[in-house]
Amino acid sequence: MEEKSIRVRVPGTSANCGPGFDTLGIACTIYNELELTLREAPGVEFFITGEGAENIPQDERNIVWRSVRYLLERAKAADRFQGGIVRMKNEVPLSRGLGSSATAIVAGLKAANVLVGNMFNRRELLQFATRIEGHPDNVAPAIFGGFTVNIMNRGRAQSFSFLPKVRLKMVAAVPDFFLSTRVAREVLPDMVSRQDAIFNIGRSSILVAALCRGNEFFLRHAFEDALHQPYRSKLVPGMMDVFSAAKEAGALGATLSGAGPCLMAYVLERDHCAEKVGQAMVEAFRKNDVEAKYLVLNLDTRGARIINE
Ligand code: HSE
Repeated sequence: MEEKSIRVRVPGTSANCGPGFDTLGIACTIYNELELTLREAPGVEFFITGEGAENIPQDERNIVWRSVRYLLERAKAADRFQGGIVRMKNEVPLSRGLGSSATAIVAGLKAANVLVGNMFNRRELLQFATRIEGHPDNVAPAIFGGFTVNIMNRGRAQSFSFLPKVRLKMVAAVPDFFLSTRVAREVLPDMVSRQDAIFNIGRSSILVAALCRGNEFFLRHAFEDALHQPYRSKLVPGMMDVFSAAKEAGALGATLSGAGPCLMAYVLERDHCAEKVGQAMVEAFRKNDVEAKYLVLNLDTRGARIINE
């Protein structure tokens, strides 16, 4: 009976980065690991530890396993490998806006791809992952690492990944409640004003330009948003207070991470204020009766990777 295993590590991500709704995303130094074994015999076993383990389905609904099956079908290997073992070690908080579903999708696709002989390149994995997730802004940084700019062009995702010339630290304030992306998308209006569109186009552009050129001055207003955060603030009690607290403690800016509820502050590394910013954010959440913890993260520069063959 044929049996093959592989281990992959995939970074968590923060999408939108403020103004880049559904288009910008970064990879962070927090990881989920998958050890995948494929077997000829049907049936799948799950061994999941770490963040959110008790809330992750351990059957055919599991998103890692569904992504594995998705890839095997495209590789015409679904009959050859009908079952397997999924071992996950998770650091990325579940359903908090740090890309936990993207890491699961990318981990499943990447691991299965290696086990079928790397039939697909990273650009093709991006298409598969985007189709499963629905938008590219989390899956792209999970695949490529770095800061990514992502567009959809005639149904295909295109992603540009780069390493910013400004050395940043990210401070994630992670509240102790879940928020589903579906709910956080339902509160958004279908139409936005021209004024709000201009607000975001300018900030999103200046954010990318300033990071590429290493210009810190222009970053101070570049993380602001008018297209999604104002509507989502009612889902995250104290969001605006936490943003203000982060800035007062020295952050360049703060954003809703993905669809939330995690909030992400951006700090210049040379300011050495990440811990202070984290404490201020947690305190501001506490004043709004929300328990939270903070994580100080760096940019992940490599994206999804194989740990051993
Ligand atoms: N861009 C997405 C959103 C990220 O904000 O809804 C969440 O997956």
